[in-house]
Amino acid sequence: MAPSKRVFLFTAVAAASTLHGRQALNQSTPPTVTLNGSTIENPTAYATPFVLNVEDMWDLLVGPVSTALVTTTASATPVPSSSLIPPPPLYYSSFPSGQQNPMVVKNESWSFPRGFMWGVAGAAWQVEGAVKDEGRGPSVWDVLSHRVTNFEYDNGTADITDNHYYLYKQDLARLAALGVKAYSFSISWSRIMPFGRGPVNQIAIDHYNDLINTCLGYNIIPLATLYHWDTPLALQDTYGGWLSENIVNDFVEYARIAYAAFGDRVDYWFTVNEPSVFCNQYPLPAQYFKNFTIPWQQQPYYCGHNVLLAHSQAYRLGKSMMPNSTIAWKSNGGYKVPLTNSTEDAEAVQRAWDFNEGLWSDPIYLTGDYNDNVKAYISSFLPAFTDGQKAAILGSADIYAHDAYTSQFNFAPDGGIAACLANTSNPLYPVCSNSSFIYTQQDGGWLIGPAADPLTPWLYKATDWVPAFLHYIKDTWAKDKPIAVSEFGFAEPFERQKTYLQDILFDPIRSAYYHDYMEAILIALSEGVNVIGCLAWSFVDNFEWASAYGVRFGMQYVNFSDPTLPRYYKASFFEYKNAFDVYQEK
Ligand SMILES: *[C@@H]1O[C@H](CO)[C@@H](O)[C@H](O)[C@H]1NC(C)=O
Ligand SMILES: *[C@@H]1O[C@H](CO)[C@@H](O)[C@H](O)[C@H]1NC(C)=O
Ligand SMILES: *[C@@H]1O[C@H](CO)[C@@H](O)[C@H](O)[C@H]1NC(C)=O
Ligand SMILES: *[C@@H]1O[C@H](CO)[C@@H](O)[C@H](O)[C@H]1NC(C)=O
Ligand SMILES: *[C@@H]1O[C@H](CO)[C@@H](O)[C@H](O)[C@H]1NC(C)=O
Ligand SMILES: *[C@@H]1O[C@H](CO)[C@@H](O)[C@H](O)[C@H]1NC(C)=O
Ligand SMILES: *[C@@H]1O[C@H](CO)[C@@H](O)[C@H](O)[C@H]1NC(C)=O
Ligand SMILES: *[C@@H]1O[C@H](CO)[C@@H](O)[C@H](O)[C@H]1NC(C)=O
Ligand SMILES: *[C@@H]1O[C@H](CO)[C@@H](O)[C@H](O)[C@H]1NC(C)=O
Ligand SMILES: *[C@@H]1O[C@H](CO)[C@@H](O)[C@H](O)[C@H]1NC(C)=O
Repeated sequence: MAPSKRVFLFTAVAAASTLHGRQALNQSTPPTVTLNGSTIENPTAYATPFVLNVEDMWDLLVGPVSTALVTTTASATPVPSSSLIPPPPLYYSSFPSGQQNPMVVKNESWSFPRGFMWGVAGAAWQVEGAVKDEGRGPSVWDVLSHRVTNFEYDNGTADITDNHYYLYKQDLARLAALGVKAYSFSISWSRIMPFGRGPVNQIAIDHYNDLINTCLGYNIIPLATLYHWDTPLALQDTYGGWLSENIVNDFVEYARIAYAAFGDRVDYWFTVNEPSVFCNQYPLPAQYFKNFTIPWQQQPYYCGHNVLLAHSQAYRLGKSMMPNSTIAWKSNGGYKVPLTNSTEDAEAVQRAWDFNEGLWSDPIYLTGDYNDNVKAYISSFLPAFTDGQKAAILGSADIYAHDAYTSQFNFAPDGGIAACLANTSNPLYPVCSNSSFIYTQQDGGWLIGPAADPLTPWLYKATDWVPAFLHYIKDTWAKDKPIAVSEFGFAEPFERQKTYLQDILFDPIRSAYYHDYMEAILIALSEGVNVIGCLAWSFVDNFEWASAYGVRFGMQYVNFSDPTLPRYYKASFFEYKNAFDVYQEK
């Protein structure tokens, strides 16, 4: 999921000369190693010779983890019909229609095509739990949550979270009971390959095989994401994870294992999830991961560069192994509205697109290379793509998949764009586009829409902009390719503070969000935008990265205080489902 603009709170200090170990980023640059403050010439002589197995990595680099009450795969129990009764409608019906009636008068101009994939999404680290079970190696997030002081809201960990690793049969039964047609999940790289490279863990393959087969048994379409932020810790500590071009081969090998194991049944693949978020998580905190010598401001762009190489190669490999598959990556970011009609604000909007979505979308959908604004910044430190790399990148997606949660206003920085570009200390450098969620005073000073939880300050219900957003994606990047809204959802404000079950289950702003979002997609469809599906985030409350259990995105409530982790449908799930009861062509 998409905590977009959050910048990590640890001190980001340029680690200019403090590298321990190999620096693989630029293969032709010799590694630098310091010993007691002095640079030494023969780094390998000062590398540790000892070997860590998976258990050692957990013990030494993460520490003890919690385990769930249920530690074997549970079979599904029938969903009681009493839990399938929808709630009464909220506000939009002027007549007392009763809870069994359609909640809107049908607009005959609208419909979802028959094959429209409406579904839900989750991600391995946020829902699985069982972090140390059955051979899984640690990921960087296990270290962030266990080792980095005050990193997580309320010191939460994802050790157990929804225990979906063992409860997936029950979860899929509950999705099937509401008629959900698609389930988008991510595969934990360090379950499949505990060190990110090398040996393959057959137990993990068996697990995802059964999850996929369970989906298919319910006629639920499985969509698999290879990487949803959970970089194997071994790769981070060996060469800096996405900072190093070494990750390209390791990612492609991992993709090969996953395609070979699951590609006979999984037709829809996403390579990487939201690079604009995970690349901006660099630099990772130096005290907990090995230090690497790239200046911290440049790290997100090294990551982005390696993402383009890894994604494009994984795409090409996937198409060669599974000719009929649909493969893409997941983009993210809000719709960008100019705050005023000034030319500077229009330019600020363009710069925001260029550095966020455009950093990956322009190479993949338009040219094979970066746009000019990005190039102007990165060309002094990143190598240019070779012709072969450009050719592999261009066209390396079958659809445009966007995690489209919200909208925002963009405008020029104080003092203007040119002054910002001339001042590398400007906090908005190098993007030099400011943003907010508030209209100008001349326009009333209102928020762009109702705010989500205070722990998700990047999220507002701005569904009015969604049709324009989808048109923008089509006109700019997707063109003739289909579009998927690969994530969208809402964190009901202060939901964590509620204690009364029936109150928790009645989530009015989230329900309105889904209702209005579905209308927005219907409008876009009626105007000729080829949206092929939408995947709501999320099917359960889960572990929201640094916000841990502080924010709730679920269309099902999960009682994390109850060791059996019971699930309950919220009103919003019925709202979402109702849109398809009314509008999907039979
Ligand atoms: C890594 O870099 C940080 C920040 O420059 C520094 O405080 C820390 O001592 C370094 N750690 C090692 C192991 O060199
Ligand atoms: C390590 O550096 C300190 C400070 O420069 C110096 O006093 C000390 O002698 C050095 N130790 C070794 C073993 O070189
Ligand atoms: C989280 O852990 C840190 C370190 O142990 C402690 O200082 C802090 O009070 C804890 N925070 C909460 C909310 O429990
Ligand atoms: C791909 O789809 C076509 C048309 O449906 C089918 O004939 C062909 O066998 C499929 N190829 C593979 C490798 O599944
Ligand atoms: C911007 O232009 C549009 C269309 O010309 C107009 O409706 C709107 O009021 C203008 N907004 C501002 C803030 O001037
Ligand atoms: C890599 O090293 C070569 C040779 O030293 C240098 O020309 C190039 O600029 C370096 N590239 C990066 C990205 O540092
Ligand atoms: C960005 O906009 C805010 C107002 O929303 C303003 O307070 C801040 O100074 C601006 N930042 C820069 C760097 O221009
Ligand atoms: C550059 O930006 C920094 C941070 O906003 C500011 O303190 C400094 O005065 C700016 N320098 C110039 C020359 O404007
Ligand atoms: C959650 O579970 C705990 C422990 O069983 C229970 O005390 C509490 O009432 C439950 N909360 C809700 C909202 O159901
Ligand atoms: C029905 O849909 C059309 C096409 O999107 C739209 O123009 C019209 O306003 C809608 N009618 C109502 C009552 O919402």
